[in-house]
Amino acid sequence: MSRGKVIITGGCGYIGSHTSVELIKNKFDVVIFDDLSNSKEFIMDRIYQIAGVKPAFEKVDLSNPIEADRAYYKHSDAHSIINFAAFKAVGESVEKPILYYKNNLYTLINSIEAQKKYGIKNFIFSSSATVYGNPNRLPITESFQTKRAFSPYGNSKKIAEEILEDFSKAYPEFKTISLRYFNPIGAHESGLIGELPNGIPNNLLPYVTQCAAGVLKELQVFGNDYNTKDGTPIRDYVHVVDLAKAHVKALERLLSGNMKENYDVYNLGTGKGVTVMDIINTFEKVTKEKINYRITKRRAGDVQALFASAEKAKNNLGWEATLSLENMIETSWNWEKTFRDM
Ligand code: WQD
Repeated sequence: MSRGKVIITGGCGYIGSHTSVELIKNKFDVVIFDDLSNSKEFIMDRIYQIAGVKPAFEKVDLSNPIEADRAYYKHSDAHSIINFAAFKAVGESVEKPILYYKNNLYTLINSIEAQKKYGIKNFIFSSSATVYGNPNRLPITESFQTKRAFSPYGNSKKIAEEILEDFSKAYPEFKTISLRYFNPIGAHESGLIGELPNGIPNNLLPYVTQCAAGVLKELQVFGNDYNTKDGTPIRDYVHVVDLAKAHVKALERLLSGNMKENYDVYNLGTGKGVTVMDIINTFEKVTKEKINYRITKRRAGDVQALFASAEKAKNNLGWEATLSLENMIETSWNWEKTFRDM
């Protein structure tokens, strides 16, 4: 018995594809909207191979209002939208701010305009811990002030959350949850889906796995002069499958009718801080592969430490991260090897 139709924008992407699998496993009908600008259509077949159901697919540029309206009209029988569609390379966003603000915010605005027009009552937004900027204390709770992010990418997430809050105030019959991801890593245990960075990876773990695969020569460790146990920055790395499961829980919260307010935000993290050297050392221990790295200067915009309090998600969504750092690293390496037929 289907639990109804959910539209996943950016569903061929890293977190979108893992979330599509979890939604199908939980008996939702999934429709994927994706422009394939930063993902590949073969992921649709991979989702089918894993979940046994192939989602419906619309190739659509949601930053184009005509295209967006046509796609949402066609699937206006959906009860929910999960919005992953966005460009997410922090460095690229600094070089191309207009591209990032246009794509990420036009996509969001066209989607909520369609949501209102067609009465699709529930919305989940893919946000990021980057909206907290450089926190004054840790762990980070949802009550912390959001700050102007260091990059247009991060700022597009902060502005999007503010748009959603205003939308929710104006239209109380619509319900929205923003999920603030800390550092998503890992891959599905099948090795069939995972992170597919365009070009040279910005993020740490895909860079590490490509070094181990011989695709890249050497990892630069951006600074070891921070005030941490080994001098390298701390992050809250969370398994992408745990993150995907959190989206199912958030959707169930929206559908439950138990929300006191019609807009809410949740941190999605493990609550544990892990340094760059922890990642390198754990990777070498788990995979028996050696990582060639060099300590270089700090990367502009990096903060010393970020990790979540995930208490609110545990109490209100009944969600907590369960998969270990070793599993995050093992599954990332398995995905890299499978992807490259190693
Ligand atoms: C992690 C740590 C680097 C690469 C960003 C976005 C965030 C989210 C996750 C999208 C840092 C160090 C990295 C390398 C390194 N993105 N590092 N050498 O910067 O915490 O967060 O990605 O949703 O919104 O801001 O993640 O993986 O880039 O860096 O030393 O080659 O690894 O300095 O300490 P970050 P990251």
